[in-house]
Amino acid sequence: MTVKDIFETMDYGPAPESAAEALAWLVDQGDRFGHFIDGDFTEAGEGFESKNPATGEVLAVLTQATQGDVDAAVAAARKAQPKWEKLGGHGRAKHLYAIARLLQKHARLFAVLETLDNGKPIREARDIDVPLVQRHFYFHAGMAQLMESELPDREALGVCGQIIPWNFPLLMLAWKVAPALAMGNTVVLKPAEYTSLTALLFADICRKAGLPKGVVNIVTGDGAVGEMIVGHPDIDKIAFTGSTEVGRKIRAATAGSGKALTLELGGKSPYIVFDDADIDSAVEGLVDAIWFNQGQVCCAGSRLLVQEGIAERFIDKLKARMDKLRVGDPLDKCIDMGALADPVQLQTVRDMVDGCTDGEIHRLNAQLPAGGCYYPPTLITGLEPSHPLMQEEIFGPVLVSTTFRTPAEAVALANNTRYGLAATVWTENVNLALDIAPKLVAGVVWVNATNLFDAAAGFGGVRESGYGREGGWEGLQSYTKPKGKAKPLARQEPFAGDKIEPETVDRTAKLYIGGKQARPDGGYSRDVWSKSGKHLGEVPIASRKDIRNAVEAARGAAGWSKTTGHLRAQILYYIAENLSARADEFSHRIDALSGHHGAKEVEASIRRLFTYAAWADKYDGQAKGVPIRGVALSMREPVGVIGAICPDEAPLLGLVSVMAPAIAMGNRAVLVASEAMPLAATDFYQVLDTSDVPAGVANILTGSHAELAGTLASHLDVDAVWSFSSSDISGLIERESAGNLKRTWVNNGLARDWMGTEGEGRAFLDAATEVKTIWVPYGE
Ligand code: NAI
Repeated sequence: MTVKDIFETMDYGPAPESAAEALAWLVDQGDRFGHFIDGDFTEAGEGFESKNPATGEVLAVLTQATQGDVDAAVAAARKAQPKWEKLGGHGRAKHLYAIARLLQKHARLFAVLETLDNGKPIREARDIDVPLVQRHFYFHAGMAQLMESELPDREALGVCGQIIPWNFPLLMLAWKVAPALAMGNTVVLKPAEYTSLTALLFADICRKAGLPKGVVNIVTGDGAVGEMIVGHPDIDKIAFTGSTEVGRKIRAATAGSGKALTLELGGKSPYIVFDDADIDSAVEGLVDAIWFNQGQVCCAGSRLLVQEGIAERFIDKLKARMDKLRVGDPLDKCIDMGALADPVQLQTVRDMVDGCTDGEIHRLNAQLPAGGCYYPPTLITGLEPSHPLMQEEIFGPVLVSTTFRTPAEAVALANNTRYGLAATVWTENVNLALDIAPKLVAGVVWVNATNLFDAAAGFGGVRESGYGREGGWEGLQSYTKPKGKAKPLARQEPFAGDKIEPETVDRTAKLYIGGKQARPDGGYSRDVWSKSGKHLGEVPIASRKDIRNAVEAARGAAGWSKTTGHLRAQILYYIAENLSARADEFSHRIDALSGHHGAKEVEASIRRLFTYAAWADKYDGQAKGVPIRGVALSMREPVGVIGAICPDEAPLLGLVSVMAPAIAMGNRAVLVASEAMPLAATDFYQVLDTSDVPAGVANILTGSHAELAGTLASHLDVDAVWSFSSSDISGLIERESAGNLKRTWVNNGLARDWMGTEGEGRAFLDAATEVKTIWVPYGE
């Protein structure tokens, strides 16, 4: 090649990173790995090969964990947990700091091993994955240090089972392990079967850092081992990142077990480009959105929505940029894209694209290296929004695109998905960007940037992208619980009786749906008796149809979610005022219904309404300082439609305690009143009627908790279900919620003191809101 040729082609030479040290580390370990349990590696057993997807070469042999291995790991974690928690925040902070330091000292070894095992470009492993891993441990060393002063009412959950995928093996480990340990939990982690090597290197680092035995345990194997962890009776929480399909299975498998659960699942995230965007930056951003990590990113900007006026120019520029992408040896520092993680994934992506006979497919036209899991950067234009490839996660370097005309159409297309993980918006108009960001149904929104991550900023989805957040203060929620031990809740049976005294004028209790009193669809009612056996009246028995009507009414009241906290506060005060005006009547009603002291319950209900009126305009988000040019805004958004099964034991206070936080935060509620003592709720809708509560914001039904819970939990238009019922329905609700992966908050048969502080406060506000992280350019 002549100098002239070089100038003409301007080709890069190869700049290979050496694999020697990482391969030597594997040889040192004997090329065979057991599990890391109770501070030591076990003997390697029956297992499977871990291969380099770029070459097919076997890197090591891993052990498939048996039930005995999982039991041993859980037992070690259980044994270590109390001592680890008692070490205190500072004690744990020192350990996390030591791990962060060691991760820095061995940064290159981790990066090269990750690239060998996963196929991602060394440039990404070295400059993105590994630095973010270190950052996560530093950040959470700080969280451990601050736990006692900042989270004085919270404590560790216990033993956490953590199951992670193969796209960011070490980073996902860090996202799971660091917050868990910081809050005093111990862990049993299972890396993905394709990519376990950096987790095993991390185990070695834990040993070097002097982490107490049993605090971190790592077992290797496939989905069957994941199932053993999920089903283990001595695990308190499952944290999972992976496919929506497996997430759904895990939701169903853990239903009724009392285990806490967070799910970080798939996505089909929109990448929206408006006609005033800086087009070159938006093209460059898109390269990062969809071809970073070969597109194997849960929040990949895999759906391009570009405004019609610039679509042609944008696509031309994109194709030109695509055609310059370099796909090749992941260890070469000059490549843009490496290999997919496994031949199975390669085949899945191939099948999905080859099965597409619509639209127009453009692929990088270059010779790909032979023998590895390489797939060219691909763009498919001209698909209908309902096309399977516009809706399904491809999880590879394949971008689909369509156009839109107006901002409203962009939002409609963006939200036309069962997922809700992330979204990107490009425009030079700050008004437009900040108008669109709140309208996108997604857990994370990037403005004029994409794929930004930081330990301080929460990450996680809505809809079928899962629930729970990783990172930030909000991420700690998933690794702690309120201090104290709850007592079991006995089933509260309705009272029976036979003393019927004729009333002067009949008072007919009805359901309250869409701001109107409604007769039950089924046409059935039942008697309500006082504790002393006196007939108090009849209540309607709501059916599935009534639930559906109430949900529809709640959906229709979407405007409530856009009202200001100030307005909602005024309405809550007004409800309190009107309840106060009828305090005596409610007090007598509760006396009769429950035999308790009704006056106290009414007084507590008024107080509670004041509490949430107070919170309505104060439970705000935060602005997070992140170490890049920008600020991450954590905005608290209403969850949407919340179905709540109210406590049986406090007929008025129970209803108010779940309704008030829900509507204070902008949700609409479908409330199933106390089954045993429903009549205070049917009186209460008259209070709502006179308090300017818009129709559909609070709907009240009466009937059997066990019969109505399943319908609420399986309803696709309900976003969350809470239950404080004394009926045994927690498992049913969790199981039925798996359909659309709605959030659940159930009592698992445990009592709550509604009169006391545990009957109100942040736990309710957190459950009534979801954090959306919006990254905006800010500062230099
Ligand atoms: P997967 O969801 O099956 O695997 C993720 C992890 O879950 C692995 O550690 C696996 O061993 C474990 N697992 C599998 N079945 C399990 C079960 N029944 N119970 C408990 N744990 C189980 O993902 P897979 O098969 O590796 O990839 C399939 C598709 O999932 C991808 O094509 C992609 O669409 C999606 N995916 C999404 C990810 C994300 O970050 N959201 C990550 C990985 C995959």
